Amino acid sequence: MTQDELKTLVGQAALHYVVPGEIVGVGTGSTVNKFIDALAAMKDRIRGAVSSSEASTARLKALGIAVFDSNEVAELAVYIDGADEIDGQGCMIKGGGAALTREKIVAAQSRRFVCIADESKRVTVLGKFPLPVEVIPMATQRLTRQFAALGGRAAVRLKDGQPLVTDNGQHILDVTGLRITEPLAFESQVSQWPGVVTVGVFAHQRAHVCLLGAGSGVETLTFQ
Ligand code: 5RP
Repeated sequence: MTQDELKTLVGQAALHYVVPGEIVGVGTGSTVNKFIDALAAMKDRIRGAVSSSEASTARLKALGIAVFDSNEVAELAVYIDGADEIDGQGCMIKGGGAALTREKIVAAQSRRFVCIADESKRVTVLGKFPLPVEVIPMATQRLTRQFAALGGRAAVRLKDGQPLVTDNGQHILDVTGLRITEPLAFESQVSQWPGVVTVGVFAHQRAHVCLLGAGSGVETLTFQ
């Protein structure tokens, strides 16, 4: 199966975790796009969605799925999202699509995080994928030096030759050269640096379940 077919497969498998009659949390990315497309088939059985990006909101609305502001909803039963890396404890690197801040917000208001990914995302130690960090632009240089002190090389993510501007009006640093052996402690540490909006390590909001598209089909990983 191609990577695209595996994404379709896990996107469809995630429907099993959507609770009828409720509002579902929806992430961002090419795998989530497959989930959104599949969700259209059961749109009359859910109240709608809380979305983690302008891109997902547009796709949901185009398919006739109501999108609620996260402030209108106290708690969500489930959040479905992709990942750039996932380890054996369900900790993830996210933000390849620059939506990490809203993704972490929606994940935090959800009782269950279901990650959908293909097997290329599975790792033993987080850090091979450049770590996305959403930052306030005036802090970029100082944060670059702070990551250098940890052995990382930070680069401002560009789009059309200019710094990419997130849905929240901020910039993204992509940090290479890190080996994140203690994701919880790392996330706590970097989150406290002035100018960091969101670090793309999801350890406090780790996945409870991962639907992993592998050659043989969908493998379900559950984390304690
Ligand atoms: C967006 C994300 C995505 O979940 C992550 O980048 C995976 O994307 P894809 O499903 O396209 O591989 O964190 O900010």
